[in-house]
Amino acid sequence: MCGIYGFVSENTHQAGEILEGLKLLEYRGYDSWGVAVKIKKQIKVEKSIGKIGNDKIHLPQTNLGLGHTRWATHGGVTVKNAHPHLDCKKNIAVVHNGIIENYRELKKELSKKGHKFISETDTEVFAHLVEEFLKKEGFTTAVKDAFNKIRGLNAIVVMNSLSSEIIAAKTGSPLVVGVGNEEFFISSDSLGIAQHAKKALFLKDNEMVVLGKDIQLLSLPKGARLSPKFEEIEYIQSLEEKGKYQHFMLKEIMEQPAILENISQNYQVTIQDLGKKIKKAFGTYFVGAGTAYYACLAGAYLFSKIAKVHVNTEPASEFNYLEDFLTPKSLIIALSQSEETIDVIEPLQRAKKRNSKIIAITNVQGSTIYRLANEKILLGAGPEKAVASTKAYLAKLSILLMLAFSMKGQIKQAETLLIKGAKEIRRILSPKYLKKIQKIARFLKSKEHVFIIGRGVSYPSALEAALKIREVSYVHAEGIAGGELKHGPIALIEKGTPCIVFAPNDETYNAIMSNAMEIRARGGIIIGISFRDSEVFDHYLEVKDLKEATILVQIVTIQLLAYYLAVLKGYDPDRPRNLAKSVTVR
Ligand code: F6R
Repeated sequence: MCGIYGFVSENTHQAGEILEGLKLLEYRGYDSWGVAVKIKKQIKVEKSIGKIGNDKIHLPQTNLGLGHTRWATHGGVTVKNAHPHLDCKKNIAVVHNGIIENYRELKKELSKKGHKFISETDTEVFAHLVEEFLKKEGFTTAVKDAFNKIRGLNAIVVMNSLSSEIIAAKTGSPLVVGVGNEEFFISSDSLGIAQHAKKALFLKDNEMVVLGKDIQLLSLPKGARLSPKFEEIEYIQSLEEKGKYQHFMLKEIMEQPAILENISQNYQVTIQDLGKKIKKAFGTYFVGAGTAYYACLAGAYLFSKIAKVHVNTEPASEFNYLEDFLTPKSLIIALSQSEETIDVIEPLQRAKKRNSKIIAITNVQGSTIYRLANEKILLGAGPEKAVASTKAYLAKLSILLMLAFSMKGQIKQAETLLIKGAKEIRRILSPKYLKKIQKIARFLKSKEHVFIIGRGVSYPSALEAALKIREVSYVHAEGIAGGELKHGPIALIEKGTPCIVFAPNDETYNAIMSNAMEIRARGGIIIGISFRDSEVFDHYLEVKDLKEATILVQIVTIQLLAYYLAVLKGYDPDRPRNLAKSVTVR
């Protein structure tokens, strides 16, 4: 959460370039933004609340500047709390991603020494800490000593009006340095710098970098010199643009057929290899958060049904409390689109301590989860920029489906199903079908609640569908296992309550249709997603029977429904309130 962007250069740059860099990082947080530039021996700052949108910056040209786009943790969304934060003398500017867990004690100590704080943030403490250390030592040592005093998982970048250097250090969230022509860029994501740099250094935890005329990489806590290992990075402009689409969410939904085709054609060897490891392991655990967790849950059903193998899964944030049974023979398969989710990183760190083997299935190369894992599989879904995950979910399901079939020695069958799935999704993405979904969105526009039911492998679809609707349209949506309805939730059904029913052509059909009838008998309005129409359905969306691959297609109808509902209600589906794409704090 929070996006950091900055540069130090031999040449002058427009301050507006920092704002452009931040725009690419807004998926990480968009409560407020701020920029600090060094002009002669002074720091000038401009901040604003809300998304950057068409905001312009009025700061002069500079050769050293930092910017930040915030997802608030400590202190409300105000201009005062927006980063960069300064010290008392306004010589030090700090941008930060993470939480300084001991900031209260540090603030108390610093206040006693006479430091004056103007924000409610934990970050401001760091600017004053550096100020304090600078009284007795140079800039690099002051930042190192300040960083060693803070606790938590943090990424911090600091500038000093009296120095021509930018210093960054991290124990948690990502930071990447881009090497340009007589200049360095620093950012939370290579997306932010790829236009300017072909070579990048991905900082590891407990590393610090000093950027000026050259680059110095140091280890923390001691500050020993390290030799940086640069990687090539690629700038693919088309992936960063919405093209003909109004929103990234719609663009990413539309990309899904091609993703299924890619996985069906290019993942055989990787998947068969992973299947062998699962067979050898003594206990396999899928770990993921939010949408990724629902992919894990669907995976557990697919494994049981197809491969006849039991895998365990829990939401990643709960897995920390279930680590005691892990052994060196356990296999943890982590699913994470962003690679940065703290709720996934923590259980992996614990599993590592117990010498369990870790395999990461992710969409981003080179970040924390990628490095923690013994082996990695890339989803190949391309950057997902809308906050709500769509194409990464389908990519994960596709890999899990292939994996389950490969363990049964039938990977070819999965490949055929994925190709059929891609074809059926293309049908759903056709204008005629979209009109049907838009009609249902208009019906739901005035509703406050919607329930979604499914059984078996369609139960995770119900959970994911509810999450999609909630997060982008702010309608209260709940995914429920069909069999659980009578154990409580049915009390909420009254005349006119909308209920989406996943009724595929599998062993769940009869039971889920009985649940739909029970809802209808109480006045509920049924939106059926099924291979055939029924008199129980008030609205019907056809999803052809694709056997085990039906789950890949049925969720696309609700991704679209959530999208159209958000747009109808006047919300920005790409940037839902209170959310961020990378969840780097607990
Ligand atoms: C919902 C959504 C989130 C993420 C979750 C995990 O649409 O995107 O629930 O799935 O925050 O993120 P990753 O996959 O990056 O670990």
